Amino acid sequence: MWKPSERLMDTIRHYASFPATGVSLRQMVQFGDRPSTGTLFRASQFLSEELPIRLAHRVQDLGELPDGLSEMPSIKKVQDWYAQSFEEIITLPRPTLTQEVKARLLRPGRANGGVSKILSETTQNPSIREGQYRSSPNSTSHHNGNGKAAAAAARRYFVPSDDQGDWPPELNDYNERFAKTLGHIKRRHDSVVTTVAQGILEWKRKRQRLQIDSTVQSFLDRFYMSRIGIRMLIGQHIALTEQTHVRHPNYVGIICTKTNVREVALEAIENARFVCEDYYGLFEAPKVQLVCKEDLNFMYVPGHLSHMLFETLKNSLRAVVETHGADKEAFPVTKVIIAEGKEDITIKISDEGGGIPRSAIPLVWTYMYTTVEQTPNLDPDFDKSDFKAPMAGFGYGLPISRLYARYFGGDLKLISMEGYGTDVYLHLNRLSSSSEPLQ
Ligand SMILES: Nc1ncnc2c1ncn2[C@@H]1O[C@H](COP(=O)(O)OP(=O)(O)OP(=O)(O)O)[C@@H](O)[C@H]1O
Ligand SMILES: [Mg+2]
Repeated sequence: MWKPSERLMDTIRHYASFPATGVSLRQMVQFGDRPSTGTLFRASQFLSEELPIRLAHRVQDLGELPDGLSEMPSIKKVQDWYAQSFEEIITLPRPTLTQEVKARLLRPGRANGGVSKILSETTQNPSIREGQYRSSPNSTSHHNGNGKAAAAAARRYFVPSDDQGDWPPELNDYNERFAKTLGHIKRRHDSVVTTVAQGILEWKRKRQRLQIDSTVQSFLDRFYMSRIGIRMLIGQHIALTEQTHVRHPNYVGIICTKTNVREVALEAIENARFVCEDYYGLFEAPKVQLVCKEDLNFMYVPGHLSHMLFETLKNSLRAVVETHGADKEAFPVTKVIIAEGKEDITIKISDEGGGIPRSAIPLVWTYMYTTVEQTPNLDPDFDKSDFKAPMAGFGYGLPISRLYARYFGGDLKLISMEGYGTDVYLHLNRLSSSSEPLQ
């Protein structure tokens, strides 16, 4: 099994002393539907520094967990994955470039030069308390003592390059190799969520802990939020590299500039109902009514949206079935109402599943809190694709969905009427200029 050397750990410590640089959805989308070799190369360069910084923070964080949690075999395993991926990125050979090519890479491109300033400004993420995450724009100044934050701010993800004429083939080769390495890393980390969950279970058993405390809770929030960010950048870069050959209309990487909210919602409803029928052995799952304009669309990552909708809908359907009994002929209808404002698109999911006692509301946001009696087996392969999950039982659905919402400046809230039902509000920020909340 792969183990990090002492030297590698030193390098990791060095990288971890730099803050991560948050990117906004708008910056990600500036690449357009067909980025040039030069622009993609600049992004590869940015990522070949930014990803190791983010990975290094995770290696350190995993090593500094309280109460013996760091020593759990599954936590160690995940820590090694992060260290190994770190090594693969920093040791990837870079092409030697002529002075002329270097100079050309630094020359701003003409086509996008004018608009990029407005687009590239990031704003404070509205769903995050100021100073909660180090990379949020307003808080970087606190860390200015050693100039590292300033140096980080000078690195930019999107730099349109001068694309008049061809680039030397080494650039394209490097881009391809870089994307391939990222693909490999992404697969290595597919089962991080379940493996960390496994680590927490090991620790709970060993230390006889019933619930996780606020230190572990905030570690997990930080950790999974960072994972969302890393996977976003990686997924985006791989897709952008592919898009240099094949064009997908309305897509920039994995971002859909015209995500049709209604279509995504219909699909999530269908999937959640299917899982519900399967799990409870129902002839027909409780009905879901959707109220949404036909053509409501906005810029988002469809995968994130369907994940959040699927998770909240599964919760509602489960509550409805369990409150009214699986043998009922007909169930009350769950309503999904989608509203479009200037700032936000808001989705309300209202069920008549009996609600949640007020004292349990804070618990629903903690990892591994579930009212399912028997947690299903944690099969490390189960989330090979992030979006395939059983009906319920891990206590991850809500906290992870809230991270997805907050990642792009939205939020997820829940209001319950005990004895009647629950309303879940999913706010999605349309302005998309807010920075990733990272630490
Ligand atoms: N709409 C709802 N109505 C009633 N209770 C709910 C609702 N949504 C969530 N809950 C409660 O909150 C708990 C946590 O929900 P969460 O989605 O985080 O985990 P889970 O559904 O138990 O497991 P999974 O990780 O598989 O989703 C649930 O077990 C349930 O008790
Ligand atoms: Mg759930």
